[in-house]
Amino acid sequence: MTRLDTRSAFQYGLAIFTLTALLGLANATQLFGPLNRDALLTHLHSGTLGWITMGVIGLSLWVFGGRDMNMAVRISALATAAYVLAFWSGNFQARAVFGVIMLGVIYFWWWFVVSPGFKDGFASYDDVKLMIGFGLTTLVLGSTIGVIVQVILGTGNSIPATTDLVGAHASAQTGGYLVLVSAGFIEWQLRGGGRRTNLGLTQIGLLFAGGFILAFSVLLAQQLGPQAAQALPGVATLLTLIGTILVAVRNGRAAMAVSWTAGPKRHIAIAIPWLIAAVVFQFFLVQQFIAAQGDVTKVSVGLLHSLDHSYFVGLMTNMLFGSILVFLGARMAQWPWADNVIFWGLNVGAAAFVAVLLIVGSGEGKAAFTHPVAFVAPIMGLSALLGVATFLMRLQGAQATAPAVAHAR
Ligand code: HEM
Ligand code: HEM
Repeated sequence: MTRLDTRSAFQYGLAIFTLTALLGLANATQLFGPLNRDALLTHLHSGTLGWITMGVIGLSLWVFGGRDMNMAVRISALATAAYVLAFWSGNFQARAVFGVIMLGVIYFWWWFVVSPGFKDGFASYDDVKLMIGFGLTTLVLGSTIGVIVQVILGTGNSIPATTDLVGAHASAQTGGYLVLVSAGFIEWQLRGGGRRTNLGLTQIGLLFAGGFILAFSVLLAQQLGPQAAQALPGVATLLTLIGTILVAVRNGRAAMAVSWTAGPKRHIAIAIPWLIAAVVFQFFLVQQFIAAQGDVTKVSVGLLHSLDHSYFVGLMTNMLFGSILVFLGARMAQWPWADNVIFWGLNVGAAAFVAVLLIVGSGEGKAAFTHPVAFVAPIMGLSALLGVATFLMRLQGAQATAPAVAHAR
């Protein structure tokens, strides 16, 4: 099976991830002083859209198959790069225009994964495809809220104080979209597709409901009344936590069986504990938000950034690195030594970074090399960059024949 489009999506994603990691290194060391809000939002969205969502597009093409979509991948990469640069420019009009184009791209890929279901019925979907479908549905909802924010700001208005649009956007994307798609791809890579089980459906229901209720209750906290506003976000994260435990239970045996000394599957297996860690951090963060009663200065920035990187690096980057290695199959000739450095560097670095953020707190705004973050985050960032260089080199030489993981129906 030739999948030039999947290969391209991985290549574009890796290229954009370079920018994420470089900005991360600058933020860690504070060598150029504190990053301004535009640079932080560039770090954020180059990672979530440029790297993670391009990777998700590549994987969706691999799972769903069909005709070559390389042109659509190229247009998507261009739109993403333009939107990321618009974040950097700080120009609100440019952000609004390119945000709308980005949203169009996201709707396109949502339609790509759900249209066979509308045509042939969703009974034809296995657990994996359902997870991807529900994940991209949440992405569409979360991104629509993001674009609404962008258009409000781009037209010179300010965000209404009665709704927390940015909070709803962020929680839908991380607590809903990322959890669902990662659960789908982890299962596919570890055990293959083709299954439709009651436990799988329960897991999907819990994860989708958890993300949706969380975003909804954050959005309308002021309208819901104090009791519901206090209870709902906690209930939502509990649903997600139970769903996540099901991910671990259902994939645990396959995850334990992977080799920890070599091969791609260890990246996929280790993504599971990272998923659980991220959801547990989310649970505590939600409790802090509730206790803070709207005063966000009372919420721990270290905890927020631990949650962010557990999702973005621990969960998603591991899952994508592992998938790229599976995609490459036996084509590992270049830099064979790099695989161990990437795996251990990324994971030990990310774990140390998260531990420092939780124990010492955020290092942002401190003088260069005065905070432990400056010494641990670069282990993660440099390993990520080594991954980018190694995988780009190998993908360049690859024939783009995606090995069948096992077939999804
Ligand atoms: C079309 C796609 C997207 C659009 C239009 C968009 C737009 C935005 C906007 C306008 C903000 C607020 C920026 C500000 O504070 O000025 C924001 C923040 C944020 N976005 Fe996105 N975004 C998109 C995709 C994503 C994705 C895919 C993720 C994660 C997977 C994500 C995660 C976040 C997070 C975590 C915040 C930070 C909230 C905060 O701490 O202030 N976004 N986004
Ligand atoms: C997909 C990848 C990534 C995403 C989406 C991401 C996202 C974020 C976000 C949302 C923040 C908070 C920004 C704020 O203050 O509002 C942040 C901070 C930070 N990021 Fe990343 N990041 C990613 C990868 C990396 C990597 C590879 C590094 C490597 C060095 C890194 C290093 C940092 C550092 C050091 C901070 C500041 C933490 C602190 O001291 O509080 N990030 N990132």
